[in-house]
Amino acid sequence: MLILVTGGAGFIGSHLVTALLAAGHEVRVLDALLPAAHRTPPPVPVGVDWRHADVRDEEAVADALRGVDAVCHLAAMVGLGKDFADAPAYVGCNDLGTAVLLAGMAEAGVGRLVLASSMVVYGEGRYACARHGVVRPGPRRVPDLDAGAFEPPCPHCGEPLDSGLVDEDAPTDPRNVYAATKLAQEHLAAAWARATGGRAAALRYHNVYGPGMPRDTPYAGVASLFRSALARGEAPRVFEDGGQRRDFVHVRDVAGANHAALDGLTSLPSGTLRAYNVGSGDPHTVGEMATALSTAHGGPPPLITGEYRLGDVRHITASSRRLRDELGWKPGVGFEEGMTEFAGAELRAG
Ligand SMILES: NC(=O)c1ccc[n+]([C@@H]2O[C@H](COP(=O)([O-])OP(=O)(O)OC[C@H]3O[C@@H](n4cnc5c(N)ncnc54)[C@H](O)[C@@H]3O)[C@@H](O)[C@H]2O)c1
Ligand SMILES: [Zn+2]
Repeated sequence: MLILVTGGAGFIGSHLVTALLAAGHEVRVLDALLPAAHRTPPPVPVGVDWRHADVRDEEAVADALRGVDAVCHLAAMVGLGKDFADAPAYVGCNDLGTAVLLAGMAEAGVGRLVLASSMVVYGEGRYACARHGVVRPGPRRVPDLDAGAFEPPCPHCGEPLDSGLVDEDAPTDPRNVYAATKLAQEHLAAAWARATGGRAAALRYHNVYGPGMPRDTPYAGVASLFRSALARGEAPRVFEDGGQRRDFVHVRDVAGANHAALDGLTSLPSGTLRAYNVGSGDPHTVGEMATALSTAHGGPPPLITGEYRLGDVRHITASSRRLRDELGWKPGVGFEEGMTEFAGAELRAG
């Protein structure tokens, strides 16, 4: 197959390109090399048909879609950004960009899409109260956070909650601009599938980490910030009390999930989008992750700072059973192994 990978110069995209080439596919990459993601242009892998262009550029997209069998759409602005002033840039890259791509696919008759979505579409994860059953905690309140009360209380009785695994049918509840743009991408892709008879998989990645992760910028993930601190000989600074639970999934496993989705798309009914969580199934706290990295790196232990970011969620951990059951995917890199490798890995000059 000839596969177009948008955002293929990025952290996850470049691993996906390597995996697709290794599997014998032809690969075309379209990437705008956003300065936030690339301080210096990355090397172009051998054998890739490379297009330096923006996914909002209709002509470049039409050209890049010529002869393509399927698209993996990863081009996006990622992370929480600096502040709300970033909102138009996020919406432009992520939503206008997706609309231009989908319109081009409709025009060119390309009917298979694997979208890089995110767990952030769920907002706070799944919680249960001993008295009230499954509940949805409200937005986090500044006075609570300032007082160091990070656990979301039951919206009915205020008692502490138990957090559990989110499945794909959980209600979506984006809590920041980035999250809103990722959910809009899914809605646009679903509308495209209905209108054109296409097939789409929305892969809701958990926290992806691994070699080639961009170095610390306001757009980088937490594992990269910790890793960069350790590289400077500093302690990782852990926000809140370090008890936030996440699922850290290795980038090679995420590339594998894209591959599995590409193969599985043909068995979806035409005109549909199906969402799949992509997580390791082995949740850890951010504090545990920082400790694992410090230990493997031989650096100073993490510092718990009590700082917070209002747009963050407390716990979000997914069930990836659907991806395992329907597409036969399973993660290959365990937490200890992955963090040990990452502690010694190169980061990208993002
Ligand atoms: N890293 C994670 O933990 C994570 C988690 C969930 C979802 N995702 C999603 O995975 C995808 C890839 O993320 P990543 O971590 O590799 O980020 P990244 O920043 O390393 O890669 C994104 C790439 O997209 C390119 N890009 C951005 N806007 C573009 C545009 N308008 N036109 C063309 N190219 C553009 C950038 O230049 C970059 O190379 C994104 O869609 C992101 O939302 C990532
Ligand atoms: Zn309650």
